[in-house]
Amino acid sequence: MNANLVSEVRSAFEEAGQGHVFNFWDRLSQEERKHLLKQACQIDLTRLKDASREALGQAGSVNDSDADLEPAPWIPLPSGVDSTRLWEEAEGIGEELLNAGKIAAFTVAGGQGTRLGFNGPKGAFPITPVSQKSLFQLFAEKIKAAQMRFEKPIMWFIMTSEINDEATKKFFIGNDNFGLSSSKIRFLRQGMMPAIRPTGEIILERPDRISMNPDGHGGFFRAVVDNGVAEEMRNAGIETISYFQVDNPLAPFLEPAFLGFHSMSGSEMSSRAAHKKGPDEKVGVFCKRNGNLSVIEYSDLPDNLARLRSEDGDLVFNAGNLAMHAIDLAFVERIGKNKGIYKLPYHSAKKKVPTVDAQGCKVTPKKPNGIKLETFVFDAIPLAKAPCIVEVCRADAFSPVKNAEGDDSIATCRSDQLRKYARWVKEAGGELPIDETGEPNISFEITPQFADSQDEFTRRWRDKSNLCIEDGLILD
Ligand code: UTP
Repeated sequence: MNANLVSEVRSAFEEAGQGHVFNFWDRLSQEERKHLLKQACQIDLTRLKDASREALGQAGSVNDSDADLEPAPWIPLPSGVDSTRLWEEAEGIGEELLNAGKIAAFTVAGGQGTRLGFNGPKGAFPITPVSQKSLFQLFAEKIKAAQMRFEKPIMWFIMTSEINDEATKKFFIGNDNFGLSSSKIRFLRQGMMPAIRPTGEIILERPDRISMNPDGHGGFFRAVVDNGVAEEMRNAGIETISYFQVDNPLAPFLEPAFLGFHSMSGSEMSSRAAHKKGPDEKVGVFCKRNGNLSVIEYSDLPDNLARLRSEDGDLVFNAGNLAMHAIDLAFVERIGKNKGIYKLPYHSAKKKVPTVDAQGCKVTPKKPNGIKLETFVFDAIPLAKAPCIVEVCRADAFSPVKNAEGDDSIATCRSDQLRKYARWVKEAGGELPIDETGEPNISFEITPQFADSQDEFTRRWRDKSNLCIEDGLILD
């Protein structure tokens, strides 16, 4: 091991008030030292200091004195002749962009998936109600279906992190990339940040190991720049990234109208929104904050504002953020370079972080003892030119699988998929018994190859008028 490097790194950590990271150095084996040194070298101490200061100062929180807070304007779903015409125009423009190969699909899949508790990358979780296809397979099928429709192949970028990169790649190889060409799939790893104590000290998970976490979905910007992906995208003629999260099987990430609105409005970052289910739903809301379009996380929105209703009874802060965005590559690069005003703030999440005591013995905390430092993708919205929000039919587009049970769980996601299929069938004129929530009493599946939108489904249904929906049917 290079003694000069060791002493340089140790002094840098000492100067930064993080010398304790090497407290157990003398008793570590060569292998353990190597590992600890490697981790230490990955940490940008200046960035960590700034991030800790920001996160401990609670960036993002809103208080009552924040007077200039209004609901954000959005483009609603079509409801009359004029708005239908506008949506058709947007759809045409989106189709042109897809035909020209200017759009890439981008899944953020680097998170820890702690709440779901699945043993493997979240994208490998089996989610469809009959065939139990994984989230990744479903997205691959959506891409394949879109490729049949548009003239150019669609590149798919998948952001992983140190905790799941290898397993994710293995999952794709083991499934032959779900029939997609490997040259059209690109994995990239996001950065990691150490967990810290409320005092700002880095937490050691073991005597030879720093507790590290993925740096949040906002790490997407930096990951695109740092991994040389921005350049690859530019060389491939990609201008706009269609960003979505791995845990939403309904995400309509290649819907042309949204991409068209993004382009028509000259926006650098556009977002999809739907009416919140209620004041307690755990999604961020779009608002105008001091004149700038922003998202306020549910945990940061004061209760009185979350419950505020207009005269007609609707929530005033009603536009829920569904974490689907169209983002221009040039803007991604600007944020990813992290210079001047183009920086994302760090947020803190209190966590129970396994650690060691002064003797190096394992400590399993019973209450939160540490802080995870993360940036959020939506914090880039106020930095973008002409950001735009477009409504989407929630029942067609959003049902995240976050938890093993309860809200946003495996069960709710499965029911939402069935309700969507049943609604498509009924609206196309088919017969199907459903309960008062719209859920059918049988399980069936409509694959993206068969139809990936309600209009497409209606067309296909009419061509196949003898179809009978039965339990276990897979329409493909
Ligand atoms: P969540 O905030 O829901 O977190 O991520 P999670 O990691 O999936 O699950 P929990 O909180 O540990 O239970 C929303 C999306 O952002 C991605 C996730 O993979 C998911 O698609 N994400 C989150 C990243 O890609 N990187 C991160 O650092 C955090």
